[in-house]
Amino acid sequence: MIASAFVQDLAQRLHVAGIADAAQEAEGLVRALLGLSKSAYLASPPELTDGQITQLHQQTARRIAGEPLHYIVGSLTFMNLRVMVGPGVLIPRPETELLVEEAIRRIRSGKSEERGLETERPEFESGIRNPGNASLRHSFLDLCTGSGCIALSLAHAFPDADVFGVDISPQALAYAGRNAEYNAIRNARFLEGDLFGPVQGRRFSCITANPPYIRTADIGRLQVEIRAHEPLGALDGGPDGLEYYRRILAEAPRYLEPGGLLIMELGYDQSDEISALAAARGFRDIRCVPDYAGIPRVFLGLCPHGEQRSA
Ligand SMILES: C[S@@+](CC[C@H](N)C(=O)[O-])C[C@H]1O[C@@H](n2cnc3c(N)ncnc32)[C@H](O)[C@@H]1O
Repeated sequence: MIASAFVQDLAQRLHVAGIADAAQEAEGLVRALLGLSKSAYLASPPELTDGQITQLHQQTARRIAGEPLHYIVGSLTFMNLRVMVGPGVLIPRPETELLVEEAIRRIRSGKSEERGLETERPEFESGIRNPGNASLRHSFLDLCTGSGCIALSLAHAFPDADVFGVDISPQALAYAGRNAEYNAIRNARFLEGDLFGPVQGRRFSCITANPPYIRTADIGRLQVEIRAHEPLGALDGGPDGLEYYRRILAEAPRYLEPGGLLIMELGYDQSDEISALAAARGFRDIRCVPDYAGIPRVFLGLCPHGEQRSA
């Protein structure tokens, strides 16, 4: 059977089962099985063997039963890297690419286009542009790293920087390690522990975090493919969803270089509360960047001045 005809039938089955992006997912399942890019698939959709059709029927049944597409196909593309995922690790979301893009842009330019973050960042400038100077080598920390998607994207964009990714889940870290290996990224290392626990005494020019931020009471209202399959420890941000942000904002100044940058992904309605918490902790030049739907999604703030290494 020609793959395009199979995709059409499959899309219909997924649509009837209530799957929103049925056509896209049907094509995704088939392309993943065949190992084809979208352009290669569209250029000449191949014939499917009987064995492949049987496998696709099995995968479709799993998808209809609620398993996330990316757990079934086993990987996705994030910032042009191949990121492997499966039970025990959160599937990276497209909005998290926005966080990475912001981080890369700020680190590269060392300043913001916005008046609020216009502060020149000579340490960023010199560190990234003189990679041979070991004393100016940058260090980045990605808290709650999960699959390592943020840490690996930064390590890939800045091959002369040292990147640390921390997660409390050994299962997630196993994926992060495999993803580093698969993408041949050697300047990222992954550590197991509670937030800053494994990096005591270190300082970073940029800290990123996409922590669990769903309110506990809202978990039961998430789509079945999320609440029944993705790890609860990657989702639950406590009664008001802000537990991790409070801890990160309180502790980050001890781990940021003076003027260092904190960048965090936010839940859809959290920007006001988190900006207020950050201001109370002395962060400056705070701003929240909207995602493509106009939702303030990425928090940025500079480390309070004068934070002492021994604090
Ligand atoms: C929302 S996921 C983010 C994963 C990944 N950074 C991403 O953007 O796809 C949150 C991650 O935080 C981890 N986590 C939860 N509690 C933690 C803690 N106390 N310390 C470190 N990591 C934690 C979870 O295991 C999970 O991998």
